Amino acid sequence: MATHTLGIILHGATGRICSTQHIANALAPIRAEGGLAVGHDRIVPRLMLAGRNGDKLAAVARSYGAEWTTDLDKALADPAFAVFFDAAATSQRQGALEKAVAAGKHIYSEKPVAPSVDKGLELLCAMKAAGLKHGAVEDKLGLPGLQKLSRLAASDFFGGVTGFRIEFGWWVFDGTEVPCQRPSWNYRKKDGGGLILDMYPHWRYVIENTLGPMRRVITAMSTATPARIDERGVRYDVDVEDNASTLIELESGAIGTILSSWATRVRRDDLLTFQIDGTRGSAIAGLHRCWTTTGAQTPRTAHFSIATDLNVDYRANWHEVTDLGPFKNPYRIGWENFLRHVVTGTPMQTDFSAGIRDVQFAEACYRSMKDGTWVSLAAR
Ligand SMILES: NC(=O)c1ccc[n+]([C@@H]2O[C@H](COP(=O)([O-])OP(=O)(O)OC[C@H]3O[C@@H](n4cnc5c(N)ncnc54)[C@H](O)[C@@H]3O)[C@@H](O)[C@H]2O)c1
Repeated sequence: MATHTLGIILHGATGRICSTQHIANALAPIRAEGGLAVGHDRIVPRLMLAGRNGDKLAAVARSYGAEWTTDLDKALADPAFAVFFDAAATSQRQGALEKAVAAGKHIYSEKPVAPSVDKGLELLCAMKAAGLKHGAVEDKLGLPGLQKLSRLAASDFFGGVTGFRIEFGWWVFDGTEVPCQRPSWNYRKKDGGGLILDMYPHWRYVIENTLGPMRRVITAMSTATPARIDERGVRYDVDVEDNASTLIELESGAIGTILSSWATRVRRDDLLTFQIDGTRGSAIAGLHRCWTTTGAQTPRTAHFSIATDLNVDYRANWHEVTDLGPFKNPYRIGWENFLRHVVTGTPMQTDFSAGIRDVQFAEACYRSMKDGTWVSLAAR
């Protein structure tokens, strides 16, 4: 048995997503288990946490037996670290990835992988020219509810897909009376904020991996909460959208909608729901659970009554899909795929070009809003 130690620089390591999901729930457990088994061998991640605040970095590093540095250039110059992972604030991504590619590191990136498709393609070109491996985080594919839904789609449960609907969001407080639950940079354009840039990359891969390619989109968006209080208690103006509605036409001809909002109060099955309707049956998935109903179970609704409440339980004919077995953290699934890809060359489905397609979707929605038209999602 051989052990491959793989040095990984984690940029933005003390941030919410990197410290919790990528380190605590993915890389640290892989290390604690003695590495990721690949055949008879093991890949053991060696972690270098990079960021700006030494005290915070040291605290996270101590918890997970990692190294840390505030000198990113020095870390990039160290040949012991072959991989660069970026989970810093979105506005830093392009600069950080450019440096890492120039330093010859294999790249794994949080979404959005680039501020625009053009910038993403420049990076991809440079990675290919240097023979670097690359991957993009597309974690929502690993959610148990969405896994059940995509299995139904793959097994042709729906017949012809007649439509679909994604609903996402919750109330994000403005910070006046209740502290805001999201970082303030999420609400500033110059910092890479905006609900579409933040969340739509997820909807792209979720939809296309489940239902096939999208043909075109049209979007409306608004800023529901124009001013907020930041982490220091200072009021600031919001200059990005926190509410967006999108119509999507798939290559198959099916039409779907996405309603996403940080200014809505939840009264649905979950914080995220994805419903697919088809000629043979329908299903709706939340983050963990999924329910189906078939043509034979569909009530023959003929009318509604304006005079009396018919008192029908429309959920009664929906049946829960059984669990697929033990849950594996979706971020860990992504890391395992990427580690295998780097060390053994196993193909990486969620590569950087998939990440660029995610950005293409967000970009098309912004353009559609600006121009007031449908925008094509033809492959670039
Ligand atoms: N896959 C997902 O579901 C998911 C979820 C949340 C966030 N994200 C992505 O992860 C990234 C981080 O989001 P977050 O919610 O963890 O944000 P966060 O604000 O909690 O963390 C951002 C990190 O970047 C660091 N940072 C900020 N400005 C920096 C700079 N100028 N130079 C170096 N480091 C800097 C911060 O110190 C912090 O460590 C974003 O790109 C976001 O889109 C992905």
